[in-house]
Amino acid sequence: MEQRDQWGSRVGFVLATIGSAVGLGNIWRFAYMAYENGGGAFLFPYIFALLTAGIPLLLLEMGFGFFTRTSAPSAFRKVGKKFEWIGWWSVLVAFTVTVYYIVIIAWSLLFVFKSFNLGWTTNPETYFFGEFLQFSGSAFNLGGVQWPIFFALIAIWAINYTIIAGGVQKGIEKASKIFMPLLAGMLLIIVFRGITLPGSMEGIRAFLTPDFSRIFDLGIWIDAYGQIFFTLSLGFGIMIAYSSYLPKKSDVIKNGIIAAFADAAFSIITGIGVFGVLGYMAVEQGVGIADVATSGIGLAFIAFPQAINLLPALPQLFGLIFFLSLTVAGLSSSVSLIESVVSSLIDNFSLSRKKAVTIVSIVGFLMGLPMVTQGGLAILDIFDHFVNIFGLLTVGFVEMLVLSYAFDLDKIKDNMNPSSDLQVGPTWKAMVKFVSPVLIGIGLIQNVISEFATVYGGYPLAEVITFGWLAVALVLLVAIYLGKKERTV
Ligand code: PHE
Repeated sequence: MEQRDQWGSRVGFVLATIGSAVGLGNIWRFAYMAYENGGGAFLFPYIFALLTAGIPLLLLEMGFGFFTRTSAPSAFRKVGKKFEWIGWWSVLVAFTVTVYYIVIIAWSLLFVFKSFNLGWTTNPETYFFGEFLQFSGSAFNLGGVQWPIFFALIAIWAINYTIIAGGVQKGIEKASKIFMPLLAGMLLIIVFRGITLPGSMEGIRAFLTPDFSRIFDLGIWIDAYGQIFFTLSLGFGIMIAYSSYLPKKSDVIKNGIIAAFADAAFSIITGIGVFGVLGYMAVEQGVGIADVATSGIGLAFIAFPQAINLLPALPQLFGLIFFLSLTVAGLSSSVSLIESVVSSLIDNFSLSRKKAVTIVSIVGFLMGLPMVTQGGLAILDIFDHFVNIFGLLTVGFVEMLVLSYAFDLDKIKDNMNPSSDLQVGPTWKAMVKFVSPVLIGIGLIQNVISEFATVYGGYPLAEVITFGWLAVALVLLVAIYLGKKERTV
């Protein structure tokens, strides 16, 4: 048995945790979500969700990993053999997310190179769907492989492989110490550029002006909880694995809280930059903010290239910084996703780290191949939607219930309190046992209802069933199977 890896320093652990949390979601998801959901007024549900579910569950996962000192499946096995599948479930959800998350990082990497000559042309929308993806419009119509994306996908897997094969301290920790300052620096440049452009205030005002009339809208609260789960990387077994590598006397609670607030700060500050740039573009084109604001893939690969094209000076440099920050933010998150899987393989099948990463990388790469075809975008989009709803929220919900009622929260609490400056107590327990599960439960029910009411994204039902429902069911079945198997380690 190899010696279990350990973090080399407190800073290293905190940076790696922030690295996992700060990802594509902070750059392209938060800002738009806030804008859509009442602007500055969204900050209330957001912070409420952070305090009532985000931080409590983050500390629960961290405390659980710190207590059991092992990755998710074996950690849940310590609660009871019949719960092991929950650990596998979270790990498999992490793996499925990895598969498509890495494809998006691959696009970002290609766009880094396109910045040199603004290769997305003067019509980025046509370019993106046409030349770049050659999108067929259908998940069933794969057409040919897009070779540049194929090679970029290999490159991103190779980078992840190298970092993770290096181990916790010499790989992940070292990479985080380079990535996170670099990312913070680049995002500050983006924000500075964003707020100094003419018209930027229009955008920032649209982003932050509170519309309190929306605050009683249930949908806003559900969005806030979803965003918090996604942004803090909860329900993926990541925080369990990361905390299992902590030395015995670590301050888990304070580290967790620092990471959570740092992540929120990243989101809000980056949002100001993003909307500054969008405001400039709107004024420049004489249109409203609503016409230029989008989220996700559309924001990063279409709206931003459009805005970059219009910049008064050095658009190439700005493009490079923007897409490099997406790439770096994505990489530090993908490393954590993969580590969740790798650590579980090491802990449960006595594989060496090298062997485990090799297996995960090859299988993950192969599973990503359909997504680099001409139908790839549709597969990725459907996958993403379903995994988010039935992955993280559901897993987080089940985790809280099992650890609260089939395990003893006091064990986790009493194990992390003594080595921490801050203490968790009855409030934390109440959040984990009652408040969060109830709030998330309501959100889940709402999500399921709307899922049945309309077929996601206007795709044909058969595609949504195959890449959505079936994928979710398969993940669950494999998790149950792995959880049932007898283990010798
Ligand atoms: N937290 C990351 C983000 O905001 C995404 C992520 C989710 C990473 C789940 C790992 C696990 O982009």
